[in-house]
Amino acid sequence: MPSSPILSLSNINKFYGQKPNLFQALKNINLKIYSGDFISITGPSGSGKSTLMHIIGLLDNPSSGQIFLNKKDVSKLKEKQLAKIRNQKLGFVFQQFNLLKRTSSLDNVILPLIYSDLAKKEHKTRGLEMLKKVSLSDKIHNTPAQLSGGQQQRVAIARALVNQPQIILADEPTGNLDSKSGQQIIKLLIKLNQEGHTVILVTHDPKLAKIAKKVIIIKDGKIC
Ligand SMILES: Nc1ncnc2c1ncn2[C@@H]1O[C@H](COP(=O)(O)OP(=O)(O)OP(=O)(O)O)[C@@H](O)[C@H]1O
Ligand SMILES: [Mg+2]
Repeated sequence: MPSSPILSLSNINKFYGQKPNLFQALKNINLKIYSGDFISITGPSGSGKSTLMHIIGLLDNPSSGQIFLNKKDVSKLKEKQLAKIRNQKLGFVFQQFNLLKRTSSLDNVILPLIYSDLAKKEHKTRGLEMLKKVSLSDKIHNTPAQLSGGQQQRVAIARALVNQPQIILADEPTGNLDSKSGQQIIKLLIKLNQEGHTVILVTHDPKLAKIAKKVIIIKDGKIC
């Protein structure tokens, strides 16, 4: 294992609300993620999994503590800089696939390339490559309504991969799927990890969490 983590959280606390109704959702979280890791974050409903995922994904600021991405402290950056880092370094997969409704699979997948340095003429090639990775080469022109739930989630995974992110973050990616489609998504995450992608899977399902190489259990905002 390499000596320095790609992502490191140091003494992270997260409060919601205002005094006297302050609620502490994360309590002194310390976590190191290395290249090639497959980590699951699990715990009961309300334990702080999504809050942690939003902080790891630079979608929300911690109330205190530091986040290092490739040794650089990113915890004090402004939203514009964070958006750029998110777009280049992180790929997100959510429970609700978050695809654009009237847009084809291919166009959904290449959407995050708008801000990339990749030449415009390469966008389609890259998009097709990603859709091939998720076994959807025959559905490139379909809109989300013309796809099954599992297929929509695979489009979302292709979109998460399109900028070749360092880390893929998946929050309950099988939550809206039947068990067979869910298994396909999990197999795909395992395959991506075997190909060298770093994967973080958030799930309330302890059985599902076990497929990761490392399981982190969170209860009442604390890592157990
Ligand atoms: N915006 C908010 N304002 C106030 N409290 C919040 C907010 N977001 C989350 N919380 C609280 O923080 C705690 C952790 O929420 P979080 O969404 O991280 O849980 P979770 O582990 O992802 O749960 P689930 O498995 O149900 O998705 C919960 O008690 C929740 O009520
Ligand atoms: Mg959640």
